Amino acid sequence: MSVTVKEFISSEEVAKRIAELGAAISKDYEGKELHMICVLKGGAFFMTELAKKITVPVSLDFMNLSSYGNGTESQGRIKFVKDLDEPIEGKDVIVVEDIIDSGRTLHYLLKVLEGRMPKSLKLCTLLDKPDRRVEEVKVDYVGFEIPDKFVVGYGLDYAQHYRNLDYIGVLEGVE
Ligand code: IMP
Ligand code: MG
Repeated sequence: MSVTVKEFISSEEVAKRIAELGAAISKDYEGKELHMICVLKGGAFFMTELAKKITVPVSLDFMNLSSYGNGTESQGRIKFVKDLDEPIEGKDVIVVEDIIDSGRTLHYLLKVLEGRMPKSLKLCTLLDKPDRRVEEVKVDYVGFEIPDKFVVGYGLDYAQHYRNLDYIGVLEGVE
């Protein structure tokens, strides 16, 4: 069977939801500066769009953790591929992620970041698959809660493909 992508959340719906999240975050951080940490590569598309909707002063940093090979199942191992450029001590930090699935990646990452003494630490994810959770993770801002389906687009990949779709699609025909 060949692999196809079926639209699941349209680009208009994603844009609208990101604007809402940006407004909510701007309100919550009024009078503060926000340090946004993008989890590469998946979070990059979401973070740049979200940052444009935030009205308080923002600084950005990037990190890369990898828990997936080229398949659709977490291997339960987390590899630190790229660390942050800047210290986060004393900063109001939001981690921006594409999707929380088993929760292993973020459970681990948030523990590491807590140890660096930020003033506050929150988590914002475009997508959340709560049914798949193995490790508990407190998510502060969620774009969309979705069922247990493998999705691509808007930063999310299957074997490094489909990240550049401007909508969220469900991958069909993958064993
Ligand atoms: P977790 O550690 O299981 O929560 O996995 C988090 C990472 O797995 C995400 O940041 C994604 O890179 C990847 N992932 C989980 N579910 C999907 C999916 O449906 N599509 C694409 N990538 C996914
Ligand atoms: Mg990711």
